[in-house]
Formats: sequence, C-alpha cells, structure tokens
Amino acid sequence: MRTPLIAGNWKLFKTLAEATALVDELAPLISAVDDVEVVVAPVFTAISAVAKAAEKTVIKVAAQDCYWEEEGAFTGEVSPKLLKDAGCSHVIIGHSERRQYFGETEETVNRKTKAALKAGLVVLLCVGETLAERESNATFSVIKTQVSGGLAGIPASDLAHVVIAYEPVWAIGTGKTASDAQAQEVHAFIRSLVAELYSSSEADALRILYGGSVKPENVKGLMSQADIDGALVGGASLKAESFAGIVRFK
Ligand code: G3P
Repeated sequence: MRTPLIAGNWKLFKTLAEATALVDELAPLISAVDDVEVVVAPVFTAISAVAKAAEKTVIKVAAQDCYWEEEGAFTGEVSPKLLKDAGCSHVIIGHSERRQYFGETEETVNRKTKAALKAGLVVLLCVGETLAERESNATFSVIKTQVSGGLAGIPASDLAHVVIAYEPVWAIGTGKTASDAQAQEVHAFIRSLVAELYSSSEADALRILYGGSVKPENVKGLMSQADIDGALVGGASLKAESFAGIVRFK
C-alpha cells in the first residue's frame, strides 16, 4: 500500500512572515488527516523558519532544488547536507521550470538526485513533456529519457527514498489539468518503466505524484486513478484553505 503524498511547491512566493503564517493556518485544517504525507516547499530563505513553525505538526519541509557538492567554493549554491541541517526532509529536483529557465539537464538532475539521497533526503524527481512534445507524440519517449536519466546509477535500495512527480509542462500554472485518463496513462507508463529498470516490487512501492493545476475540485478524480499516489501542487498550495482541501481529498 502506498501512502498518498501531497506536496505544495511554493515556488518564488512568500516572505518569511507569510510562509510561517501559512503553516500556522494550514496545520489545524489538516490535523485530523493521518493517512496522507504532507510536504511544503518554501524558498531557501524561509526553510528553517517554516521547519520550526511545522515542528509540532504533520507538515514536512522540502527544498525546491539543491546542488550536488557537499561544500566548497561554489558561490550561490546550497547542498543537500545544509538543507537537512535547515530542517528539510525532502527536495524537489528537476522541476520543469529549472529545466526550462536554469539549464537543468538529465546529467545535473541525476547528480543532484544522487547527492540528495546520499544526504538522506527524499527526492521528488520531476518529469514531464511540453505541449509541442505531446502534440508530436513524443510524450512517452521524453518521459522515458527523463525517468531513466534521473535514476541512472541509483541502486534499488535507494528507490524507497524517491518519489516521481509527473508534471506535464502544458498543465503547469495554466489552469489546464491533464484529464484523469491522460495522467493515469503516463503514470502507468512510468511504473512499467521502473519495473523494467528495477523490478515489479520496486515499481509497485514507488509513489508517483501528478502535478499541473491540481485544485480541490479535481484532486478526487485524479487520486482515484490506480497509479496516481498524490499531487505536487503549485498555485493552490499558496492558500491554506485550498491546499487543505487537496490534502483532505478523500
Ligand atoms: O510543482 C508544482 C507545479 O509546477 C504545478 O503548478 O500552479 O499548476 O499547480 P500549478
């Protein structure tokens, strides 16, 4: 049985005060939920304040990215070790915005994933096709490249600490959610791919999240699909009420 995971990616939003206020508002709204893992990903500067605010709640904290070196002369970077030190248990790696605007490649995603796992963080590894790729029937080949690239050289023993997030780029921030069937089709494909790369028992245990315009109104349909184990939420995670509505999808 896979425990559902609902993660909020706050992207480049929220001051320190706003971020901690959001945790304070969210926590009581979801305190009765004990069978869903809940994660929020603030900006780097708010991580330790959010981790402190979330201390006595069910909310766990993720970073939105990391570097692969532990320490050294790497101006501007943050390592997995320091993220753990600041209170993170999870890290998002390979988000399409990083691939699109910040030169993230399969190689950097893979290096970051390995480093994060080594530091003991759970990795939310993001994959997803663009609209042009979907329209040219390249969805499955893109997903295959991103999943196998991201997981290259990662042993089966580490896979329990990896969650894959399928976020079709055309559904992110557009209000255009993939239909339940469209999402399920790709999730099933990812699971079969992981079964090929590892084994069916590892694939069965792997959680695969859907991301892209998830809201309280559409989460139930998505979560009723056999291979959808949770959601990575952007816009709707910025308000306690709507994020809580997603966490309480049942
Ligand atoms: O990582 C979450 C994401 O990119 C989806 O954003 O605003 O479409 O829910 P949104």
